[in-house]
Amino acid sequence: MLTLAIESSCDETAAAVLKGERRLLSNVISSQTDIHRAFGGVVPEIASRQHLERINAVVDSALAEAGARLCDIGLIGVTQGPGLVGALLIGLATAKAYAFALGRPIVGVHHIKAHICAAYIENPDLEPPFLALVVSGGHTNIVSVEAHGVFRSLGGTRDDAAGEAFDKVARALGLGYPGGPAIDRLAAEGDPGAVSFKRVFLEKDSLDFSFSGIKTSVLSYLNSERQAGREASAADTAAGFQQAVIDVIVAKTMLAAEAHGRKTVALAGGVAANSLLRREMGRGCAERGIRLCCPSPALCTDNAAMVAVAAYRRYAEAGGDSLDGIDAFPGLKLAEAQGGP
Ligand code: KG4
Ligand code: ZN
Repeated sequence: MLTLAIESSCDETAAAVLKGERRLLSNVISSQTDIHRAFGGVVPEIASRQHLERINAVVDSALAEAGARLCDIGLIGVTQGPGLVGALLIGLATAKAYAFALGRPIVGVHHIKAHICAAYIENPDLEPPFLALVVSGGHTNIVSVEAHGVFRSLGGTRDDAAGEAFDKVARALGLGYPGGPAIDRLAAEGDPGAVSFKRVFLEKDSLDFSFSGIKTSVLSYLNSERQAGREASAADTAAGFQQAVIDVIVAKTMLAAEAHGRKTVALAGGVAANSLLRREMGRGCAERGIRLCCPSPALCTDNAAMVAVAAYRRYAEAGGDSLDGIDAFPGLKLAEAQGGP
């Protein structure tokens, strides 16, 4: 069975074809980053228009790369939320049109669950229960994947998402958008010990995060250096900031794994592409005998391959959605989607 999936929740227009449960045949991503960069972040209306202009060509490429024809497709999967409403609606309308025209079932999926499902693609034996760390531009969650379709959030951010902190600090350093990859690159040239930023752990044993404070600390450090007539080293600042954020993320993930007796951790979301996070999490897991599933960077940032896997699994468990019932939910919560998308 072939699944055709579409992802359009933010600024990547993506389509993928999956064979069976996790064999990826194609994964096409048309990124709008170059267009949004001029504005310092994603402009929702521009994102919707770009999705509309690109989506048909992206689907055609995904089918061609997979060597599949439309009539070979058995299931359509699409991201329902959370995300930008206009952007989501373009993917949904396209997916519905294919499902209707082909007479095939359609399944709406939760974007964060899809990020977690990316780990199945390169780890053929991965099955629940495991712990997932979801770190993206909009989300920071430690999720317990307890069984097929059962996702329980153990902790999340109380303010900014991890990726949001990277993007805001990058802007303060004049690195442009998106900030995460730029900080990752620049930090490699800096000394993480040169400027120390406070690690915010919140209450003892809390699995929640807070990243707004560190962003403020970086801004006030840059200001105080400027006022003192010194030029702060952007590379050292980036390295110090990155180290502080990653230290907290790794410590809390290890705490969660130990508290919940999990022996497998999967990384998910755009920030999971961060080289220091991958390295430090690798070390933390190795020290504790925990298996780490780290998807390739292209499967960490937004893509439709993860949507295809999530759609296939949900269809196998619960069947398809009705064309009338499926809609965009920009603020879809993980808990609301329990057993659902
Ligand atoms: O998962 P994603 O592509 O989109 C959302 O669902 O949000 O994540 C995008 C976020 C952005 O904040 C971006 O700066 C961050 O992931 N990101 C990174 C890296 N690559 C992308 N953050 C740190 N290091 C990276 N290498
Ligand atoms: Zn995402």
